[in-house]
Amino acid sequence: MIPKDIKILHIDSNNPLLMNQLQEAGFTNHEDFKSSKEEIEAKIQDYHGIVIRSRFKIDKNFLNKAPNLQFIARVGAGLESIDCDYAATKNIRLIAAPEGNRNAVAEHSLGMLLSLFNKLNQADQEIRSGHWNREKNRGHELDGKTVGIIGYGNMGKSFAKKLRGFDAEVLCYDILENVGDANARQVSLQELQEKADVLSLHIPWTPETDKLVNAAFINAFAKPFWLINTSRGKNVVTADLVEALKSGKILGAGLDVLEYEKLSFETLFEEDKVPDAFQYLLESDKVILSPHIAGWTFESHEKLAQTIVDKIKQLYFGETPEVKEQKRVTGIGGFFFKSEDPKALRDWYRKHLGLDTNDYGCTFRWKNEKGEDCSTQWSPFKSDTNYFSPSEKQFMQNFRVEKLQELLAKLKEEGVQVIGEMESYDYGNFGWILDLEGNKIELWEPMDETVL
Ligand SMILES: NC(=O)c1ccc[n+]([C@@H]2O[C@H](COP(=O)([O-])OP(=O)(O)OC[C@H]3O[C@@H](n4cnc5c(N)ncnc54)[C@H](O)[C@@H]3O)[C@@H](O)[C@H]2O)c1
Repeated sequence: MIPKDIKILHIDSNNPLLMNQLQEAGFTNHEDFKSSKEEIEAKIQDYHGIVIRSRFKIDKNFLNKAPNLQFIARVGAGLESIDCDYAATKNIRLIAAPEGNRNAVAEHSLGMLLSLFNKLNQADQEIRSGHWNREKNRGHELDGKTVGIIGYGNMGKSFAKKLRGFDAEVLCYDILENVGDANARQVSLQELQEKADVLSLHIPWTPETDKLVNAAFINAFAKPFWLINTSRGKNVVTADLVEALKSGKILGAGLDVLEYEKLSFETLFEEDKVPDAFQYLLESDKVILSPHIAGWTFESHEKLAQTIVDKIKQLYFGETPEVKEQKRVTGIGGFFFKSEDPKALRDWYRKHLGLDTNDYGCTFRWKNEKGEDCSTQWSPFKSDTNYFSPSEKQFMQNFRVEKLQELLAKLKEEGVQVIGEMESYDYGNFGWILDLEGNKIELWEPMDETVL
C-alpha cells in the first residue's frame, strides 16, 4: 500500500508536527475532535489508522466496527484504554510513545519528592499568609536514603537516572527478571519493603496492580516512607493511604494521579460529593497534588508527537526516511583484489576453503533484513587491470547503496571525488568514488533483487 492510500483518523488535537509530518510522508489524514464515540464508530471502517490520546476507550465493540484498522497510535505512554488483547487477535499494531514523556515524568517525580522533603509548598503557603516558620519547615535530605521503585520500565528507569548524583540507594522491583541496571538494583518486593524510605510507583494499571497499595501493602514496609505516584490513580487505595498518613506510616505523598479521575484524565469527578478520603488529601499539608501532568511538558508535547510519527513511518517504511538517508550503504556488494594469477588463486580457494568459484570468483548469497535476496561478489583481478584506476591500491570494495544518482550528487556536494559518470547495466547502476586515502570504491544500486 502506498502512503496516500493509508487513511488515518486523528480524534484528539496534538502538536501540529504530528499531522504535518504524516501529511508530508504521504499519508491521508483526517481530523475529527468533536464527534461522539458512536459517530466515530460509524465511519471507522474507512480508516487504516487511528491516532488517539485518551478521548474514549477502544473496546471490542469499537474494534469490531474497524475491519480495516492496521494500527492504533496512542499519544501517551499507557495503553490501558485499549483492548490490547483483542486488537492483537485482529493483527492491529499498537503504538505508544513512552519515549516522549519519560523524562518529563522522571523530573516531575523528582520535583514532587524534593518538594515534600523540603516542605516547599507548605512553607510557601505559610509565608504568603504571614507566617515565618523555620523549625516547622525543617527538611529532609535524599542523601543516604533508599528509594524503592516499583515498575522498572520506561518511567521507572528514567526516574532512577535522575537520582544519580543524590547518593541515595536506588532499588527496583518488577515482575520481569533482570531489568535492574547501573541506576537501580533489582530486589524482591520484600527487600524493597524492608529497606525503602521512599516508594515511587511506575507500574501500568492492570488487574494485578489495581489497588496494589492498600493497607496490607503499606504495613509491610519496615519503616515509615514517602509515596510518589505518577503511574495510575487506581494503583493506590486512597482511603488506606489516608489512614497511613494519619498514623504516620506514610510520611508524605506526591500524587499526580488520583483514584477518582476519569479515564480521559480530563476531569476529576462526575459525582457531586467529594469523597472523604480525597477531602483529607485536599486539607493535608503532607500531600502534594497535581492534575495528571507528570508527562505533560512543552518538550514532551513535541516529543510524544515526534515519537508517534517516527513509529508510524517505521511501520510502513521499515525505517524512517531520515534514517535511510543517513544509512546510504546497505551492505557489502563485493571485494575485489589484484592477483598475479587469478585462475590459480581461484582454484586454491576452491580446494582449500571450498569456495564455489567460477571464472569471475565466487558469489556469496544472503538475505537482507527485509528478506530480499542479495549477493556479495569476491573476485581476484589480473594485476594489470585498470578497473581499480586511478587508485594504485591492490584492492577495491563494492558497497550496495540505494538511490545512487542522488547519492552521487550529494557526495559531489560534500567534496568527495567522484570518478566518471554513473553507468547502468541490467543488474544495476554503478558509480565510483575515491575515499580519503585514494581507495577506489564502487557503489552499486542493484536493479531489483538481482545478484551480480
Ligand atoms: N502521570 C503521567 O503523566 C504519566 C505519563 C506517562 C506514563 N504514566 C504511567 O506510568 C506507568 C509506567 O509507564 P511506563 O511507560 O514506564 O510502562 P512500562 O511498560 O515501560 O513499564 C512498566 C513496568 O512495570 C512492570 N510491572 C507490570 N506489572 C507489575 C507488577 N504487578 N509489579 C511490578 N512491576 C510490574 C512491567 O514489567 C514494566 O517493566 C503507566 O501506568 C503509565 O500510564 C503516567
